[in-house]
Amino acid sequence: MDQTNEIEARFLQRLQQSISDGSFVKLTLSKSGGADKAFKNVYARLIELKGEEALQFTLRYTTRDVVKNHPVAEGVAMVGLWLGQDFLNGGLFTLDEDISIQYSKKRVPKLFFHPASQEAAPPKAHDKQKQYFIEAAGNPYLPDMGVTGAGGQILAGGQRKFRQINKYIEIIDSLLKQHPLPPEPQIVDMGSGKGYLTFALYDYLANQLGLRPAVTGVELRQNLVDFCNDLAEKAGYGGLSFRAQDIYDFQPGRIDMLIALHACDTATDIAIARGIQAGAGIIIVAPCCHKQIRKQMHCQTGMQAILRHGILEERQAELITDGIRALLMESRGYHTKVFEFISTEHTAKNLMIVGIKGKPNRQALEKVDAIKRDYGIEYHYLERLLEGEKEE
Ligand SMILES: C[S@@+](CC[C@H](N)C(=O)[O-])C[C@H]1O[C@@H](n2cnc3c(N)ncnc32)[C@H](O)[C@@H]1O
Repeated sequence: MDQTNEIEARFLQRLQQSISDGSFVKLTLSKSGGADKAFKNVYARLIELKGEEALQFTLRYTTRDVVKNHPVAEGVAMVGLWLGQDFLNGGLFTLDEDISIQYSKKRVPKLFFHPASQEAAPPKAHDKQKQYFIEAAGNPYLPDMGVTGAGGQILAGGQRKFRQINKYIEIIDSLLKQHPLPPEPQIVDMGSGKGYLTFALYDYLANQLGLRPAVTGVELRQNLVDFCNDLAEKAGYGGLSFRAQDIYDFQPGRIDMLIALHACDTATDIAIARGIQAGAGIIIVAPCCHKQIRKQMHCQTGMQAILRHGILEERQAELITDGIRALLMESRGYHTKVFEFISTEHTAKNLMIVGIKGKPNRQALEKVDAIKRDYGIEYHYLERLLEGEKEE
C-alpha cells in the first residue's frame, strides 16, 4: 500500500472504529477538489434506519442539499471515494479526539489529531422523516412555480403539486432501476405545460442519478415556454430547454425516453406515435380526456344494454381508448404496463401507460380489430398516425 492509501485507510478505519465503539459524533468533508464545482460539502451523522445503524449524508451543492442514507460499511466506502477526489479536507469528530485529513496541492494526505471538541454524540435519530426524491428546501425552481416559499417551506397551495411531483419521480425511479437510461439521455416531454414535472425530471436525472440529460419540453403556449426557458436558465439547468411548437410537427432525432402527461385527447396519440417513430426506448403517457373514440362508439354486443347509460359509455370509451393505445404500442414492439398514477388538479384521470421497447406482439392488431368490431369503431387515431395520416 503506498503512503497516500495508507493514510486514507487509517482515517477510514478510525471512522469505522468510532462508529463501532459508539464514540462517533459527526464527519464533514470540505474544500472541493473535483470536477463538479457546485458540490461544496458533505455532512454525515449516524441514524437508525429500520433498526440498523446507517450513515446519513447531506450532500451540499451550491443551490440545494441532497440527503442520502447508506448502511455503515457502504457509507464508509463512500467517504473513501470522495476523499482526495471531490474533497481535500475531512474532519472526523469523536468523543475521544478530532481527526482531520488534509491534502496538499499535490494531493498528498496528512493526518492531524486534536483533543475532542465534542462532549457528547447527538441522539441517534430514527429516520422517520419522509425522504422525498425532490426536496423542497434549497430547490431552485419550486419557488417560482408557487410550490414553495422563499425559505423552502411547502406552501399550503403547493402541497398537492409537491406530492404529485414526488410520486411521479418515484415511478420514474423504479422504472429506471429496471430500464436504465444511457449516460447522456435524450428526453422529450410533450405538452409540458408550466413544466413542473419536466423540471423535476431534469433535477432528478442530473442531480440524483448523475446523468447528463438533454430534456426538451414541447408546448403550444409561448408564454409557458418563455417562463420555463427563463426558469431553466435561472436554475442553471443547462440541459433543459423548451420550445413552442405543436407536437405534431416535432421532428425528433434520437429519443431515449418520451413523456406526455395529461396531454389533451388525441395529443396523447400524437406523442405515442412520435415516440414509436423515433424508436424511443421508454414511452410514458398519462392520458387526459378521451373524445375521439366515444364519438364513434356503437356497441354491437350485449354490452349495449349497459352502455345506454351515458356515464358508463363514457367510462367504457376511456377504457377502450387506452386499451387500444397499449395494444397498438405492443404491435410496434413495446411491452406495456397500465396502472394508476395520481390524480391532479387538471383532471381526475389517473391512468399511466408505460411502454418499454422490446419485441412486437404479432397478435395485438387482431385484438384491436376484434374490439373495434364489437364496439362499431371505425378507427383509433393512433392507428391513423402510425399509418402516417393526420386527419381524424
Ligand atoms: C393539461 S396540460 C399538462 C401539462 C403538464 N404535462 C403536466 O402534466 O403538468 C396539457 C398541455 O399540453 C399542451 N398541448 C396540448 N396539445 C398540444 C399540442 N398539440 N402540441 C403541444 N402542446 C400541446 C397544452 O397547451 C397544455 O399546456
